[in-house]
Amino acid sequence: MSQTAAAPAKVNPNAPTAEKVLAVEHYTDRLFRFRLTRPQSFRFRSGEFIMIGLPKEDGKPLLRAYSIASPSWDEELEFYSIKVPDGPLTSRLQKIQVGDEVLLGKKPVGTLVLDALKPGKRLYLFSTGTGFAPFASVLRDPETYEKFDEIIATHTCRDVAELTYSKELVGSLKDDPLIGEMVGNKVKYFASTTREESPAMGRITNLIETGDLFEHLGINPLNPETDRVMICGSNEMIKDTKELCEKAGLEEGSNAKPADFVIEKAFAG
Ligand code: A2P
Repeated sequence: MSQTAAAPAKVNPNAPTAEKVLAVEHYTDRLFRFRLTRPQSFRFRSGEFIMIGLPKEDGKPLLRAYSIASPSWDEELEFYSIKVPDGPLTSRLQKIQVGDEVLLGKKPVGTLVLDALKPGKRLYLFSTGTGFAPFASVLRDPETYEKFDEIIATHTCRDVAELTYSKELVGSLKDDPLIGEMVGNKVKYFASTTREESPAMGRITNLIETGDLFEHLGINPLNPETDRVMICGSNEMIKDTKELCEKAGLEEGSNAKPADFVIEKAFAG
């Protein structure tokens, strides 16, 4: 009896890998974060994004772009996500538990990276909503503190509860065993709300335009000589903040041509 060998199954080298959920924390009914195992071969630059997702019933994976919220040196991967009740992915992703599997793409990319900025003295990180995620990565990267004397991290949300993630993250920087000493007093955190009473209120764009932000921080307004900026939020927020940067004389940069500011849409799905 003759036997024919089965053709070897084709392995797609770009296929996502299945990673284990290590932690899940819910902040509000709209926001949560989770941590995944990180494959040894998975390399990225702090601030980049990657495709993540879940398998669909028909077997095909359902993937969406997500900023990586952990820094490049971390052994695990962290993500900060919105929960959309009828969102194809987040309606299911919000139910993940420790031990479950999440699919992780293989090609991290993005422009919210230090490489896309020219050297400067002060780094502004302007974010709204889940747009804080890439900055949770950048703020935990030692290179940020090697390259800049001062980092202004701003986060604007609808209400106070939505600021919890950024507040806790910035609060933990000084005590971080790896970067705490480098961070010192370099980070200034500015949080504002737009739909609930809080100590600082208003859209970041209004606060830049009126100068209230700079007055509050006791620093000079945006200056292309010294200041570099990363922007992450909704399309509208990016457009409006970008205009203000350009008005102040800052030029948009990219990986190919580093300059004064960089932008990226906050992913949601
Ligand atoms: P507002 O409450 O005035 O819309 P969201 O949760 O919808 O993504 O919004 C996050 C935050 O971004 C909210 O505080 C919202 O303010 C603010 N925001 C929305 N659009 C803009 C914009 N064009 N420029 C600056 N901030 C914005």
